Amino acid sequence: MTGTTDPARMRTNRAALTHKIRYAVRRPDRWVPHLRRLGRDWKLRLTTRDHVAYYRAVMKADAAKSPSRAVGSATPERWLALGQMQFDYLVRHGLTPDDRMLEIGCGNLRAGWRFIDHLDTGHYHGIDISPEILIAAGDTLAERGLQEKLPHLGLVRDLRLASLPAGHFTVVHAHSVFSHCPLAVIDECLSHIARVMAPGAFFDFTFNRTEGKQHHVLREDFYYRTDTLVELARSHGLTARLMEDWEQLPHKQSKIRVTTA
Ligand SMILES: C[S@@+](CC[C@H](N)C(=O)[O-])C[C@H]1O[C@@H](n2cnc3c(N)ncnc32)[C@H](O)[C@@H]1O
Repeated sequence: MTGTTDPARMRTNRAALTHKIRYAVRRPDRWVPHLRRLGRDWKLRLTTRDHVAYYRAVMKADAAKSPSRAVGSATPERWLALGQMQFDYLVRHGLTPDDRMLEIGCGNLRAGWRFIDHLDTGHYHGIDISPEILIAAGDTLAERGLQEKLPHLGLVRDLRLASLPAGHFTVVHAHSVFSHCPLAVIDECLSHIARVMAPGAFFDFTFNRTEGKQHHVLREDFYYRTDTLVELARSHGLTARLMEDWEQLPHKQSKIRVTTA
């Protein structure tokens, strides 16, 4: 199965009432979880000041149940497989131990532990907005016995990357992060990313791709057109392209690679 190339799927507007009704008829088992999410959405809209605070609260609630589920893996097997897929892809694209990696939205190190294992000591830097998921990341590190690799794990409240050194990272990676972000957050990241990238570095991120109307579902899942993100990158002097070889993999999101001029 290739997750991203189905044209019907790419035109679906999950925020449209007709889609919601059809989905509800097809999947009555999803009514209760959806109503719970709807209730949480109303509560968080009233109690959080911006999207980062909103999504941090979502992660807090989800990570309390299961950190692996909070990053999108329903089973331990899927957690391992999704990390392996990200890792294998970057190794195929030339990731070597002397690379210096920044992982944005590192979660509980689903792929991160493999990167840390592969990279030289101190060459991995993960950031996330969720304290709870970073605690779970520490647990993953300990379980995998990777303490000696001295990875950095940092809590952030925005993607201005202000505390990171200029020109340092050779690979920047954000898997399944922008799929949870409004355009303003992606814009903020793209406007600051070039500063921390070394000459010749690249920044890979995945996104929920639509070829129809851009939309979001309950402020948790955002769907963008490829040209929107390519143009946004261009507006910050970056070059962006869709990674066609990622489309062949069994994953529902697409991937864009950004490079500096
Ligand atoms: C679906 S999980 C994916 C985690 C990891 N990249 C992986 O593949 O396992 C999304 C992660 O991104 C983090 N996140 C969401 N919005 C973020 C933002 N604006 N800045 C940094 N991290 C963010 C969440 O807290 C969560 O840990």
